[in-house]
Amino acid sequence: KIIILDFGSQTTQLIGRRVRELDTFCEILPYNKFPKNDPSVIGVILSGSPYSVHDKEAFKVDLNDFIGKYPVLGICYGAQFISYAYGGKVEQTGTREYGRAHLQEISLDNPLFAGFEPNSQVWMSHGDTITAIPEGYRVIASTNDVKFAAYASEQNPVWAVQFHPEVFHSTQGTTLLKNFVVDICGSKQQWSAASFVESTVKELKEQLGNDRVILGLSGGVDSSVCAALLNRAIGDKLTCIFVDHGMLRKNEFEKVMEAYQGIGLNVVGIDASDKFFSDLAGVTDPEEKRKIIGRDFVEVFNEEAKKITDAKWLAQGTIYPDRIESLSITGMVIKSHHNVGGLPKEMHLQLCEPLQWLFKDEVRRVGLEMGMPERLIKRHPFPGPGLAVRILGDITREKVRILQEADDIYIENMHNYICEDGKELYDKIWQAGTVLMSSVRSVGVMGDERTYEHPVALRAVTSTDAMTADWAHLPYDFMAKVSNEIINKVKGVNRVCYDISSKPPSTIEWE
Ligand code: XMP
Repeated sequence: KIIILDFGSQTTQLIGRRVRELDTFCEILPYNKFPKNDPSVIGVILSGSPYSVHDKEAFKVDLNDFIGKYPVLGICYGAQFISYAYGGKVEQTGTREYGRAHLQEISLDNPLFAGFEPNSQVWMSHGDTITAIPEGYRVIASTNDVKFAAYASEQNPVWAVQFHPEVFHSTQGTTLLKNFVVDICGSKQQWSAASFVESTVKELKEQLGNDRVILGLSGGVDSSVCAALLNRAIGDKLTCIFVDHGMLRKNEFEKVMEAYQGIGLNVVGIDASDKFFSDLAGVTDPEEKRKIIGRDFVEVFNEEAKKITDAKWLAQGTIYPDRIESLSITGMVIKSHHNVGGLPKEMHLQLCEPLQWLFKDEVRRVGLEMGMPERLIKRHPFPGPGLAVRILGDITREKVRILQEADDIYIENMHNYICEDGKELYDKIWQAGTVLMSSVRSVGVMGDERTYEHPVALRAVTSTDAMTADWAHLPYDFMAKVSNEIINKVKGVNRVCYDISSKPPSTIEWE
């Protein structure tokens, strides 16, 4: 495994994430907790830090614990500290560098830079500058402003980079980390979902002990996988709450409750649909609808959560993309946001978010690894407010019923349509759903009768993170079948359209 020593940088966890993308197990440890006698260590990475090496409070370590023994890569503060500790110089020169820079004079024959482009873009974020490197080290890349953008030892396997290879804007950062982790440290790239499950379950056991944990289930992939992990770690000490607001997909509440019970979860299901429908009656403004649903959800959830008087933790299925709100240019601040807001303060719950460093595809791998039903794991994302944001205008039980029927036909056909490569069409789509244009009516003819009913729009998009999305090029024969079935079977609908808008400028949901 790779040891990442954390000197307090906000991007330390990202380094871990990048190393894991290379299917390599890594552990992030406090800067002064290097495991001296662990035979599984293959390399060490030193992170950045909010401190300058000259600060009184700066985190310092004895580099001789690992330099000369393992390959070492210092990043930002890590690079400055190596220089500082071995007789180089780190100064506040006034040339702070924040943001984009381009490497020059790269030693392309150095294994760290194998495969690099001559002017590779990197991301800088430092106040101090290395102005001299220790004896026995040589510079291997510069930028316009900084001579020692990267340097390496001539005797030992030690590399130091002033820039941040772990962030997205260092365009070849992944190549650099791969060069280090795989080629230099010799990782066999065997990290797997299985090892994640094993280590996470162990950590959760240690972290939670005998404490009771509450978790809000939504029926979606993230909260379900989170619950399964916790269930494996603490069993019945986990209480899950699943609120039905009445605007889920057809039979969803029952099906998902069944699936949860099937995997042995301790889950309380609450049918709160009357409250939601009555509070939403007559409301047409999309924002107002969302607010009411959000507020009601918190109320219902809290009421139930308060009954669990010995609860110490609130677990959430927050995943990594939920946490990245903005990578600010100066501080690289990664803000986190939370899905369940406003739990009463007097409950004093601590947050437990075991999936917080995983991306969606990894969460799915973990779920499958734990033997969760494939249908549950492969589900498309579904918005918290449910079908309410897919019904234009006010919400009634009848409109929800119409949309549930149309949606069910659409999604079931998507599962049943097998593409040329043998995969279900459903698996090729990021997200699909139907929209009821309940404020629009159009004329049709059925048998000998004139109809005057609502259109339904089909939406299907491809995406990797929901930030941008393209409309999916669905097969015509598939669309024909769905349209036919919806119009023939769903009372209240006489027309089907397909939404061909990408995001941006449109959004995935209509409201
Ligand atoms: P938009 O419509 O903004 O949606 O392109 C992006 C993704 O977020 C989902 N979405 C929500 N998820 N609560 C959620 O939990 C919400 O209020 C909400 N609104 C949109 C949407 O389904 C898509 O996957």
